[in-house]
Amino acid sequence: MNAPFNPARGAALRDPFSAFVCDEATAELLRPVAVEHGWAPEKVNKGGLRNAVQSLSVSASPNILFVDLSESGDPLNDINALAEVCEPGTVVIAAGQVNDVRLYRDLVASGIQDYLLKPFSAEQLRDAFANAQLTISGPRVNEPSSERPHVLATVIGVRGGVGASTIATSVAWLMGDKAGRSTALLDLDVHFGTGALGLDLEPGRGLTDAIENPSRIDGLFIERAMVRANEKLCVLSAEAPINQPMLTDGSAYFQLQEEMRAAFETTVLDLPRSMLVQHPHLVHDAHVCIIVVELTLAATRDAIRILSWLKANAPQSKVIVVANRVTSGMQEISRKDFEKSIERQIDVIIPFDPKAAAQAAKLGQPIAKAGKNMKITQPLTQIVTMTVAAVDGSEDSTSSTATAGGSLLGKFGNLKGLMAKKPKSDKATA
Ligand SMILES: Nc1ncnc2c1ncn2[C@@H]1O[C@H](COP(=O)(O)OP(=O)(O)OP(=O)(O)O)[C@@H](O)[C@H]1O
Ligand SMILES: [Mg+2]
Repeated sequence: MNAPFNPARGAALRDPFSAFVCDEATAELLRPVAVEHGWAPEKVNKGGLRNAVQSLSVSASPNILFVDLSESGDPLNDINALAEVCEPGTVVIAAGQVNDVRLYRDLVASGIQDYLLKPFSAEQLRDAFANAQLTISGPRVNEPSSERPHVLATVIGVRGGVGASTIATSVAWLMGDKAGRSTALLDLDVHFGTGALGLDLEPGRGLTDAIENPSRIDGLFIERAMVRANEKLCVLSAEAPINQPMLTDGSAYFQLQEEMRAAFETTVLDLPRSMLVQHPHLVHDAHVCIIVVELTLAATRDAIRILSWLKANAPQSKVIVVANRVTSGMQEISRKDFEKSIERQIDVIIPFDPKAAAQAAKLGQPIAKAGKNMKITQPLTQIVTMTVAAVDGSEDSTSSTATAGGSLLGKFGNLKGLMAKKPKSDKATA
């Protein structure tokens, strides 16, 4: 049920509808509306979410599933249990008594189409079913066709300054220039972001406005707030005043992702690692996570930790590990030791190229453009190819997170091996 690319796939063989409610009043409201849609009233069952999980674990999932969360003590957790038994493509509408926008966002992030607050009216129910049917019958009007599914690529630097924004900007630019995809670059480093700076643009107030007023975010807002870099690339970035903390529950970020999904063929998300802690839902829909590392001890430790975190928080995502600023001379940690510690290979190596970086800074262009004929372009293009391939199905799956096995503890064991042993104190040796 989680963010299906093509919700219609496999829909023909299923029951059109079933519901699992907690009380008779909800059942009575549901039955006539179900009948209006041509669905059997017997498909309205009792037992709420618990029964839904039990039933779906032994039978095929319907196209539209209505599930009542009223009796659930931990709706979010229970929804995840449902996700395990629910087949992809099922559109889930939930209902419950908890009036909390955070829960709503989290539910939507975990693949729920809609959440109806009880008591709700027959009209609200009809609206929810109409939206569900639209989702099943095909893509939204301004959504890219299914031949070109949306790509959400998240770029995360495991340490500060490893070059994550440099890579995000170049990947976004190449997505437009080389892959011909309309692309949004969303830079969530609200105070210190370089998404606009790197393209010689004024960031504008769009992103700060969005964070301050998430309810204003819609297609039109996106159209107005995004700064155009070229025909294929638009940027949303900010330089919020340093004395102005950004107070947000993260709903704006989530909504921006949603709108960009509708308006662009690719979203490149420059995601500061500190935000992973606060807003883990930002990677829930990411198709690809580009993890930028450098060959140092600290980056090794944090690469291990972030890769492990991604396994739990973005299991759907293909991970591409990119080592940046790699020199031909000696590194703090060798590539071999680094790969041994993270228990997977580095997918792409980008050389340290101060000449290309200087050129990019001087021209206000992405490094992939400014250093066009330099060595740095090829690996950047490789990232774009791998990213697109991960979504259009032509990838080999060898480098996905799934291949990285073993325990975190074991990996730290490897890491420890890299660290110079502390000399024993005189006392100890005496
Ligand atoms: N391959 C490279 N060769 C030379 N310089 C590079 C390379 N990649 C990035 N840089 C330079 O490194 C600096 C830091 O890059 P960038 O701002 O992209 O890092 P970041 O990981 O986004 O940092 P932050 O943690 O501040 O977000 C920039 O000056 C950039 O030009
Ligand atoms: Mg950055």
